[in-house]
This record gives sequence, structure tokens and C-alpha cells, in this order.
Amino acid sequence: MRRALVTGVGMQVPSRIVTNKELESLVDTSDEWILQRTGIRERRVAGPDETASSLAIVAAKEALDRSQVHPEELDIIVVGTVTGDMPFPSTSCLVQAGIGAVNAGAMDVGAACAGFIYSLCVASSLIESGQSRNALVIGVDMLTKFVDWTDRSTCVLFGDGAGALMVQASENGDRGVLKTVMLADGTGARHIEYPVGGSKYPASGEQRTPAKGLTMNGSEVYRFAVTAMGDACCRVLDEAGYSAEEVDLFVPHQANLRIIQSAQKRLGIPDERVFVNVDRFGNTSGGSIPIGLYEAERSGRLKPGDLVLTVGFGAGLVWGANLIRW
Ligand SMILES: CC(C)(COP(=O)(O)OP(=O)(O)OC[C@H]1O[C@@H](n2cnc3c(N)ncnc32)[C@H](O)[C@@H]1OP(=O)(O)O)[C@@H](O)C(=O)NCCC(=O)NCCS
Repeated sequence: MRRALVTGVGMQVPSRIVTNKELESLVDTSDEWILQRTGIRERRVAGPDETASSLAIVAAKEALDRSQVHPEELDIIVVGTVTGDMPFPSTSCLVQAGIGAVNAGAMDVGAACAGFIYSLCVASSLIESGQSRNALVIGVDMLTKFVDWTDRSTCVLFGDGAGALMVQASENGDRGVLKTVMLADGTGARHIEYPVGGSKYPASGEQRTPAKGLTMNGSEVYRFAVTAMGDACCRVLDEAGYSAEEVDLFVPHQANLRIIQSAQKRLGIPDERVFVNVDRFGNTSGGSIPIGLYEAERSGRLKPGDLVLTVGFGAGLVWGANLIRW
């Protein structure tokens, strides 16, 4: 069977670190509250010249270098993002131009914090079907440019970042993307939204601005996330014929340490097999899982042959999980 094998990783985050302490001067919050409720200590915040594509291009180049693939060899670029440079053209097209992938098609996938899960499924399915051989999969978001910096219930949660995976066709091997589940419940759309700048409330013209930034019902999303994470993991493991004990590394979406721990508890996976970096980056949405995979591999926690379980959830509502033999 042909599989989509991960052959290289890349990442990029803005250099500016914003600590919880710094946020105390912006909104009525405290380092203690943020740390206790979310596990976040600091996050990276983009400057005015940084965009989703500028981070994605750096991450993409690193993944290409590490896999020793030339940009001209790419046949598809899939970017999971909901905070692209602009409504159109797609961020993937900007990446395609930025890295000189002259033979590649390019598409964005809009699945918020599950954007990378969905994007990896698109790329691996294209590879398995024979449509593509060399795919670049990127998760990137820049939510700090979309939050209302006067709303303490949301602005403390997010950070910016990009992660990239080079994924290549591999014949008859047992390594690669084994299975993905993708799930959605649009009846929960109102629980996290950024309504401005689309066809409902265009950025120009007679716009009524319903909100200054993204809005979120935190407790509703929390409840959803706790169930969704565990459900998606159990389902992908079950469909692929594995159990949680066989997972070498669990790389969940980094939104909140308490949500991660509840999924970990349900699956019975010990701490040493759970990857956590929410303390340093906050919730980077589509960037979160590929950044986790990058850091896990670069720090030696993820080795060829390891069974990796990823899971994500976010605005939509959407959720899903990938099972990968690294
Ligand atoms: C947002 C979240 C951290 C809030 O934690 P919580 O324990 O549920 O806190 P609550 O919403 O119950 O709020 C408790 C109190 O803290 C206050 N509060 C909210 N944000 C605060 C902040 N940054 N600093 C201090 N206090 C804050 C609230 O106003 C509330 O005060 P009140 O009781 O006087 O009304 C949590 O709900 C969460 O993580 N939800 C999921 C969000 C998420 O993952 N979104 C992204 C999806 S990809």
C-alpha cells in the first residue's frame, strides 16, 4: 500500500515574547489566573510586518531542507489556516510563490484549530490515491491580529506560529499517515467566531461591526473540547486497530493544559508520552500540532517508527485526529 510518509519538519514563530505579566498592564488579569486556568506562561506575538504567509514560508523552507526536497519537486501545498494574509488569494498561493514551488498546486483548508489535522488528511489522501507524490502540509495562524485586546477572556489565550511537514509517497512501507478522523458540528458555530471581513459583514461598505475581535463562549468550548478530544482519539485508534497503550507520543492541540490533561486521563497515557508546549506558545491554532511535532522530533522525543497520535478541535465546531507511524 502507498502511504504518506513524513520526511521533514519545519517551524517558525515571531521573535517577540509576551509574558502573562506583560498582559497585566493591558487587561484586568494576572499571571497566576492565566497559568492556573490554562497552563500558559507566555506566547509569541507577530509584528506589523509579519503575516501568516511570512511565517509559513520560513517553516516550509526548513521542512524542504530537512527532507532534501527541491521546491520544484512539490506537487501540492496544503495550508491549514483561518487567519491567512487576506480573504483571497489563498495563503497557500503566497507560500507557493515564496518558496518557488513552480510545479505545485496550492489550497487552504479552513478548519481553525483542527486545520492541520484536516490538511494532513487532504495531503495523505492525495498521496494514497496517486494524485500527488510530494506534499507540503502547513498549519499556521496569527490570531493575535484578530483578538480584541481589551477582552481578557480571549486575548490571553492565543499566540502566533507556523509548523510544516514534508510528506512523501512511500511504497509498501508500514510508516506514514495511518488514519484520520474529521468531525464537525456547525450548530456550534456561534461559540467561537470572527464574523467581520466576510460576505456577511464585509470589511468595506455599509458594515455593521458586531464585535471588535473574535468572540468565544469559553465554558461552552471547554465542555465541547474535553469530550471531542477523547472521542476523536478513541475513534481514530479504533478505526486503525490500535489501542492507546501502543501510542508512543500524544501530540494534542495546545489550547489549555487542563483540556490536554483530561484527554490524557481518558486515554490513560502517562505524562512522559504527552507533548506539551502550551506554556511557551499559548494556542497557535493551526500551528499548534505541527509545531508540537517539530519540537518533539528535534528534541529526540519522536523517532522513526514511533506511533504518534494527534488531536485538534476548534471553531466550526470542528475536531479530528491523525494516527501516524513516524
Ligand atoms: C477561557 C477559559 C480558560 C476560562 O477558564 P474557566 O475556568 O472556564 O473560567 P470562567 O470562564 O469560568 O471564568 C471565571 C472567572 O474568571 C474571569 N476571567 C476570564 N478571563 C480572565 C482573565 N484573563 N483574567 C482574570 N480573570 C478572568 C471571568 O470573568 C470569570 O469571572 P466571574 O466568575 O466573576 O464572572 C476556559 O473556559 C477555556 O480554556 N475554554 C476553552 C477555550 C479554548 O480552548 N478556545 C480555543 C478553542 S481552539
